[in-house]
Amino acid sequence: MVKIGILGVGTVGASVANILETNADILEARAGKKIVVKSGVVKNLSKDRGVSIKLSDNPSDIIDDPEIDIVVELMGGVEEPYRLVKQALENGKAVVTANKALLAYHRYELQEIAGNTPLMYEASTAGGIPIIGALRNGLTANHIESIQGIMNGTTNYMLTKMINEGALYDDILKEAQALGYAEADPTFDVGGFDASHKLLILASIAYGIDAKPEDILIEGIENINQTDVAFAKEFGYEIKLLGIAKKVKEGVELRVHPTMIPASSMIAKVDGVMNAVSVVGDNVGETMYYGAGAGGEATASAVIADIVDIVRGNQDPMLGYKKPLETGMELLFESEIVTNYYLRMSVIDQSGVLAKITKALETFNISIESMLQKPHRDDELVKLLFTTHACQEEKIQEAMIALKKLNCVHGEIAMIRIEK
Ligand code: HSE
Repeated sequence: MVKIGILGVGTVGASVANILETNADILEARAGKKIVVKSGVVKNLSKDRGVSIKLSDNPSDIIDDPEIDIVVELMGGVEEPYRLVKQALENGKAVVTANKALLAYHRYELQEIAGNTPLMYEASTAGGIPIIGALRNGLTANHIESIQGIMNGTTNYMLTKMINEGALYDDILKEAQALGYAEADPTFDVGGFDASHKLLILASIAYGIDAKPEDILIEGIENINQTDVAFAKEFGYEIKLLGIAKKVKEGVELRVHPTMIPASSMIAKVDGVMNAVSVVGDNVGETMYYGAGAGGEATASAVIADIVDIVRGNQDPMLGYKKPLETGMELLFESEIVTNYYLRMSVIDQSGVLAKITKALETFNISIESMLQKPHRDDELVKLLFTTHACQEEKIQEAMIALKKLNCVHGEIAMIRIEK
């Protein structure tokens, strides 16, 4: 018999306990051993968790219990779970965690501490989708050319409602929170941080890159408005918050930002709380993974997959490398990213204004691909929307500063990156 202790019995923890109980027969058949939850640890013992397992408020009851074989960490946060996971590994216990923030900061240290003790984290990225297993195992014969994915259910839910139903940002965020999709602090979702944690985990497996969130470009969906949505529709794009890892000649681009993508692409059709990840390998070509990226049961499904894998004897290192990559990939600076851009600005409706704007862009060697001018109803300003041909991030940033200095440009300039 294998005994489990769960640190954090919230939505996911309760689902793990309940599924292990209700699906005990099939899990025993698949794992070869009976799996039981011995106890769970929570901060507040008076709250009903909807589980039949024994609960305590002392993590030591799990970490230091010699009977417990596998510690499942579902607490959230970074430093406290880091301390507890470290202690559990040092005590020789296998660990399963769904904690992407913990892994975004400490995955390499934890791998080092774990050594040959299993440390698994399928549920940390894209909820129920087995994307980590796919990268570590199924795609191991490939150099990974790119990973592109909708890795945050909350923002995908919000964007879908904003785009398809014209829903208002604040209302729809409240709805996502009520449905249990959003992080405890939803800034993690809307600001792109949650997606960045997941992207960094995948980038470690695909490229061996040990980057932290502060090392990469992260932008959220806070500034998307209905003008952008209308432009995207008119020009055949969808807007999605994507995590992108792309191998180019000089290194690897890692970035999270709202992205205009062709409406005809598969990923553009992924709506609501669903996640999807496209991975291109040099041998396999494009592969695509789709499923629920948030929610108790979907995430618990991935947690339990790891538990079963450990019970079956899988001792593979968490990042998928038995020795370091000889030709390590370099993370490119934000300024080196090359892509197409959409710009939105308000300008005075007078002759010569467009010439001034195109002149400013010419200075940075930026070429316009398409353009749309929308009159404002109530004043003399018009909205100027355009897309550019591919150019370097550094150039577009400099061009935006130059454009803002023009007298004919009023207020902020919004920018959305485009992936063709
Ligand atoms: N808040 C996350 C999301 C939950 O919306 O995708 C799963 O990580």
